[in-house]
Amino acid sequence: MTDERKHGLARRLTHYGDADFALYLRRSFAKSMGYSHDMLSRPIVGISNTASGFNNCHRGVPELIEAISRGVVAAGGLPLPFPVSSLGEVFLHPTSMLYRNLMAMDVEEMISAQPMDAVVLVGGCDKTVPALLMGAASADLPAILVVTGPMMTSRYQGERLGACTDCRGWWARYRAGEISPQQIREVEDGLVTTAGTCAVMGTASTMACLAETLGMMLPGTATIPAVHADRLRAAEVSGARAVALAAEDLRPSHIVTPAAVDNALRVLLALGGSTNAIIHLSAVAGRLGIRVSLERLNELSEITPVLVDLKPTGEHYMEDLFAAGGLGPVLGELADDLDGSARSVTGVTLAERLAERTFGDGQVVRRREMPVAERGGLVALKGSLAPDGAILKRSAADDRLFESEGRAVVFSSLDDLAARIDDPDLDVEPNDFLVLQNAGPKSTAAMPEAGYLPIPAKLARAGVKDMVRLSDARMSGTAYGTVVLHIAPEAAAGGPLALVRQGDRIRLSVADRRLDLLVDEAELSVRRAALPPPPAPPGRGYRRLHFDHVLQAPEGCDLDFLRAGGA
Ligand code: FES
Repeated sequence: MTDERKHGLARRLTHYGDADFALYLRRSFAKSMGYSHDMLSRPIVGISNTASGFNNCHRGVPELIEAISRGVVAAGGLPLPFPVSSLGEVFLHPTSMLYRNLMAMDVEEMISAQPMDAVVLVGGCDKTVPALLMGAASADLPAILVVTGPMMTSRYQGERLGACTDCRGWWARYRAGEISPQQIREVEDGLVTTAGTCAVMGTASTMACLAETLGMMLPGTATIPAVHADRLRAAEVSGARAVALAAEDLRPSHIVTPAAVDNALRVLLALGGSTNAIIHLSAVAGRLGIRVSLERLNELSEITPVLVDLKPTGEHYMEDLFAAGGLGPVLGELADDLDGSARSVTGVTLAERLAERTFGDGQVVRRREMPVAERGGLVALKGSLAPDGAILKRSAADDRLFESEGRAVVFSSLDDLAARIDDPDLDVEPNDFLVLQNAGPKSTAAMPEAGYLPIPAKLARAGVKDMVRLSDARMSGTAYGTVVLHIAPEAAAGGPLALVRQGDRIRLSVADRRLDLLVDEAELSVRRAALPPPPAPPGRGYRRLHFDHVLQAPEGCDLDFLRAGGA
């Protein structure tokens, strides 16, 4: 019998040259944990444990694992939690993005190497959901995702407070001198008051909603708050479903199909979701040989309205979306355009799910005829400054800047930005374009969420709220502004962004989907020839692996050898 057709502890035996001995030894060691022979004969459901003292968003994971385990046992399986990497967004240097692929490798290998028949993936914080889905897609074992759920909001001086759009809003007020150090400290105390992921339609919430759309989690579970009892009930049902998934051999490759990915793109646009999600969706799809094209994004963006009125695009928070019915009404409003053939971990197709369709409440989830915006939240730009593409979240940007030309104020690195952005002598005007170089995936910065360049202090104090900002970096899903991101190829890979100099003219046209550097080719050739040699790659370890193999944003910043078909 091939290893694939063996079950439970008999899968993936340790090689000793004697399979019967290996199984006998494995059972014997497993029994040392107190399991009976009968329990060890059951189908095994692995549960990825991403609890970590460095991940506040996963504070509820131990309780979720308990509930999942309960469901697995009730359905006749044996739950075995196992640790994998955990990426707490604000606890990682230089950025969690550097480690997403490392976590995905960890997840894939631990699912593949250990004897389990199905796996329940538990995650929530920005990079953990994509890493879990990427790893599970490559391992292609029956898998179901349980997210930690969003945190609840609190109040400060009568205003609702929820990470992390409000983090930025209050910090901008502080930088502009509108509130005192004592007040910003009080805000700090109240921004994050419960377990769970950020309270707005940031990357974590967007990825949870996309995972539900892709079909990798139980319908109706993406938006349940972290501290709500429904979250535990959903975990219990997910555990039970994992046992059935093993029997049905329903795998990620059966669920994450081109139809499901196309549906996820539409939902991303309707959510006004995070720019990061386009990178993560490209990476997850790429693991199964599915390409997410920027042309398709633009096509769908023209015909998909923004329906969800959540910060940073709108006004509400994730707990409001849950109260409004969660993702179901969003899918209900979009139903006529979605591909109903896509099916979820339940085995049910989207068309069957939407047979009893629900609709928006008109406020948090708008009706299609009264949307937040007529067109989708994200657009891709191309042009001489971004030959392979760039992304703008137009739903969170100032449309007065959409057709504009400006003078480049260039920062060559994050260090340069930090050193000069608030310099009173900085030569900068409100209509200038702020340009950040060397913050892409291959740079030493490793593509941090630094694309939301701060408004120079002297302009902020003068009341400037938004400027065109351009970079090869990313932006937090909770941020807002006229911020062009993911410029590809990046500066560190020799893209045209590296050639921009102080005072150059740049034109942005959202209508034409273009971003152009208005410098003639002869001058660019001279600059290209004079570029300094790239910095030496990291000498060793994972950082060297990442540097040598990381792809650009349109390929999801995955490592080349991890995509379907390898390098
Ligand atoms: Fe974890 Fe925002 S910091 S979701």
